Amino acid sequence: MKGLILAGGKGTRLHPVTKAVSKQLLPVYNKPMVYYPLSVLMLAGIRDLLVISTPEDLPAYERLLGDGRQWGVSFSYVAQPTPRGLADAFIVGEEFIDKQPVAMILGDNLLYGQGLQPMLQEVATLTKGACVFAYPVRDPERYGVVELDGHGNVASLEEKPARPRSNLAVMGLYFYDSAVSEIARNLKPSARGEIEITDLNREYLRRGQLRVQRLGRGAAWLDAGTPESLLQAAMYVQAVEERQGLMIGCPEEVAYRKQFIGSGELRSLADRMGPGSYATYLRQLAEEAG
Ligand code: TTP
Repeated sequence: MKGLILAGGKGTRLHPVTKAVSKQLLPVYNKPMVYYPLSVLMLAGIRDLLVISTPEDLPAYERLLGDGRQWGVSFSYVAQPTPRGLADAFIVGEEFIDKQPVAMILGDNLLYGQGLQPMLQEVATLTKGACVFAYPVRDPERYGVVELDGHGNVASLEEKPARPRSNLAVMGLYFYDSAVSEIARNLKPSARGEIEITDLNREYLRRGQLRVQRLGRGAAWLDAGTPESLLQAAMYVQAVEERQGLMIGCPEEVAYRKQFIGSGELRSLADRMGPGSYATYLRQLAEEAG
């Protein structure tokens, strides 16, 4: 399975902070925001990754992430000329996707919790249809909202409904089969002029091929698109990391634990990073490994 990280957009809700800096490069406590969604895809076992951003910001992602070899993965890059909507990822990424199954994660989404890794690994074996995730939120009207019947089947799926039929938001992590680019190309822009991922999901639903996996309160799903949520995400990460002494969203650690790289490579990543608590953490990990 291939992976897309959608890290473009306008970031208007964070203006003026994002006038000169890409939102997904802003720090969430001790690392760039994009490290968190990237770690999620790596935890799912996905190593062939495409980063999508604006033409102006893409070079900064290339500087940050390189070709991926240092983490035992591969990064490709493509610019999204205009922020035409989330489903546009499968059009600008069509050549990279190359008719393979693909996962997409939003570059400002944080996902953390017990039991996520086996669940992600299982979903990443998908070859037919689509899988999305439903998560209870207090303000479902801001999201795609899914209503499930008593058997866990989808009863309805609506984008930002004024009167939500449930409190279940569709998370910014999606898995699709090889038909996704073609379906995306046939979508009509919505009233707000975007190619909507909800319309893409509705097409899979119409075909009887949409699976919805529910996540409970044991998982944390945060986005960091407003000043409040950005600060909350940072405080969440700090609280958990300080308590456990373990990092959230550290791609080097994920690469090491997934055996994409060995302890020697981990140590040299730490050494190249220099001083600072992030490098110290990597060095400790490598030492524990012997
Ligand atoms: P949003 O948070 O919905 O949009 P945004 O980042 O442009 O922010 P704002 O609403 O404040 O203007 O986007 C979700 C994620 O998807 C985010 O990581 C940006 C990214 N994105 C793109 O890369 N291209 C797009 O066309 C859109 C709509 C979003």
